[in-house]
Amino acid sequence: MDELDQLVERAQHEFARAPTPAELENAKARFLGKSGRVTELLKALASMPADEKKSRGAAINRTKERIEAALYDRRRSLAQAELDAQLRAEALDVTLPGRRRGEGGLHPVTLTIERIEAIFRSMGFDVADGPEIETDWMSFTALNNPENHPARSMQDTFYVDMKDEEGRWLNLRPHTSPMQVRYARAHARRYAGVEPMPEIRVIAPGRTYRVDSDATHSPMFHQCEGLWIGENVSFKDLKVVFTDFCRAFFESDDLQLRFRPSFFPFTEPSAEIDIAFASGPLKGRWLEISGAGQVHPSVVRNFGLDPERHIGFAFGMGPDRLAMLRYGIDDLRLFFDGDLRFLSQFN
Ligand code: PHE
Repeated sequence: MDELDQLVERAQHEFARAPTPAELENAKARFLGKSGRVTELLKALASMPADEKKSRGAAINRTKERIEAALYDRRRSLAQAELDAQLRAEALDVTLPGRRRGEGGLHPVTLTIERIEAIFRSMGFDVADGPEIETDWMSFTALNNPENHPARSMQDTFYVDMKDEEGRWLNLRPHTSPMQVRYARAHARRYAGVEPMPEIRVIAPGRTYRVDSDATHSPMFHQCEGLWIGENVSFKDLKVVFTDFCRAFFESDDLQLRFRPSFFPFTEPSAEIDIAFASGPLKGRWLEISGAGQVHPSVVRNFGLDPERHIGFAFGMGPDRLAMLRYGIDDLRLFFDGDLRFLSQFN
């Protein structure tokens, strides 16, 4: 191997060892730069005899071409390596599972209320909504529960330190029964002079508040009020409607109902409604699910209606209770802790 072949080999070797394009250009300068090895050889030609010059010159030029070829090769492979590294770094793994958008769902109590609404709607009931901050008059007085009457203490109530425009104290409604008054008064106004007045058939589900907290009571809970007023509505209708509702709600035709005498200032007679399942873990146990009764004449008067003509019944049940029974939950607080591990099971 002559001196020129060795030069080519050394250049190939140094180019191959250059780890980056910048170092490759430094290596190139050592061979092809202004004072590089090849340039020196070409300069040396000048002092050569003419006959040698030609063949020597041609040999040096071939050497230069081979070195340049080696340089281009190395440039290309360094550029390729750089591109490969970049592609690797920016690679998209299309087999990775995508990032899912969190899916929301309805709260079990909301699902229960929707179920209650659907069943009562199918029986011709309207669904109404009303304020959670209520006047003392709506929460109690209009419901035949006069100021300072001991029956008010049946509901340990949150009062708001504020009065409305008419000077009535405000409270967080302790039950949905004020909705009986609000709905019936609006109905009576709307159908004033219409003979006969269309019946009132409504349920009003919503949040209610009492100073109460344990496994089966929460300071915020839900109630669903029901009201049916007409000229021919009796306690028998209450029994039929409520029995149909419970059997539909629990999808059980052999569910038992019991109306146990009770007291509410706004109904007379009054009852607690208990149910008992014919099968399952709660089989045969009486469970209280609602208060009910025939609307008291004084309350009908507060509706703006004549109690001699308009009579009917009301009930107030607990959707939280119904949800617990339907889903087999034994601690009411689970519904309101906001733990997604619990809540996501219902959707
Ligand atoms: N409002 C009563 C309660 O909260 C329930 C009820 C409603 C009773 C309607 C009779 C009629 O206990």
